[in-house]
Amino acid sequence: MALQANRPLPDSYRLGELTIEKVLSSGGFSIVYLARDDRWGPFVIKEFLPTGIAERHIGDQVVIIEGKQGLFNRGLRSFMDEAAALARVDHPNIVRVKDFFRGNGTAYMVMQHMRGRTLQFHIHAQRSRLDERFLRTFFLRLLNGLREVHLRRLLHLDIKPANILLGVDGQPLLLDFGAVRNALDEAEPQVKSVLTEGFAAPEQHAGDAGLGPWTDIYAVGATLYSCLAGHPPPSARVRLREDRLVPASVKFYGRCSSELLATIDWCLELEALKRPQSVYALQRALQDGTGVPRSPLQQLRRRRWSLRMIMGRMRGLVSSGLHGVSALVSRQAPQPGAAPSKPPESPNDAIKSTRRQ
Ligand SMILES: Nc1ncnc2c1ncn2[C@@H]1O[C@H](COP(=O)(O)OP(=O)(O)OP(=O)(O)O)[C@@H](O)[C@H]1O
Ligand SMILES: [Mg+2]
Repeated sequence: MALQANRPLPDSYRLGELTIEKVLSSGGFSIVYLARDDRWGPFVIKEFLPTGIAERHIGDQVVIIEGKQGLFNRGLRSFMDEAAALARVDHPNIVRVKDFFRGNGTAYMVMQHMRGRTLQFHIHAQRSRLDERFLRTFFLRLLNGLREVHLRRLLHLDIKPANILLGVDGQPLLLDFGAVRNALDEAEPQVKSVLTEGFAAPEQHAGDAGLGPWTDIYAVGATLYSCLAGHPPPSARVRLREDRLVPASVKFYGRCSSELLATIDWCLELEALKRPQSVYALQRALQDGTGVPRSPLQQLRRRRWSLRMIMGRMRGLVSSGLHGVSALVSRQAPQPGAAPSKPPESPNDAIKSTRRQ
């Protein structure tokens, strides 16, 4: 049974210097509010309020559900640690945490407000306009931010179109880090289902072991895939049992360059070691195709090309052999008035002609 979302703080509620204007979103782990500071303008506040672990009945206080105190504390610690770590990151593509504090029996994170819409919104509204140029520019910028996060030994763990804002200035902004989710996942199997299917990497489904930059890179690949498909790839959990993912280089053949499509396939490798191992490696692949393994389609085309080359070479050899025989015959029995025989076609000529085809 789906758990009911928690009651938010009312509009016009005063939280320190900020006044809550409205609820922006109410997820499984938190409630996000648009708030205003009289002097500094709009901010976004995130309130830690995990469904099924804590509740708000009346008033503003959060009450922990019986038997869930340990889990709540663990999530709260993770929320505060993440806020503290993010507060130290100053990058135009990572949501800026201005402040964080305890209150009302829980904790709050105050963030810069960015005008714009989520990438999820844009995928639904104008998929056809998310062309290769846009994707390359947008993702390269986003990856600049992610690189900064990884440099600080943090992982995002919940990259998906709904957690990326496209600002009115065209800049991407990465939101909503999933560390809290992860901290709760470990202890509470029922919360595991909250992993975002399609974007979460195989190693996230398998527990905490082996997470690294490649885990976020899988999600970046799935996000790129969604921009083209309009929906995420199949869940990694399902792919591990039977992989029915049609590679991007096949599914979107002709829509984008083969390098971009092969890069998406590279990120979506089920085996972590086969993916780009760092954001830098992925950025180089997006910039000029450096390091990108050949896509299955490219491999197939290459195989067909080599086959044609061999066939051409063989045809050349056969025809030069025949010419040799006929020259021998004609030398032995010259026909009066016959035209001189053509020089044999060299194998190289055959290769050149197959290349031109
Ligand atoms: N800094 C921001 N500026 C503008 N809008 C924001 C900002 N942060 C969040 N939002 C809006 O609020 C929505 C929800 O934010 P966020 O993804 O951080 O939380 P959530 O998914 O509800 O959280 P959770 O799943 O952890 O409970 C975003 O999709 C976006 O529309
Ligand atoms: Mg979110």
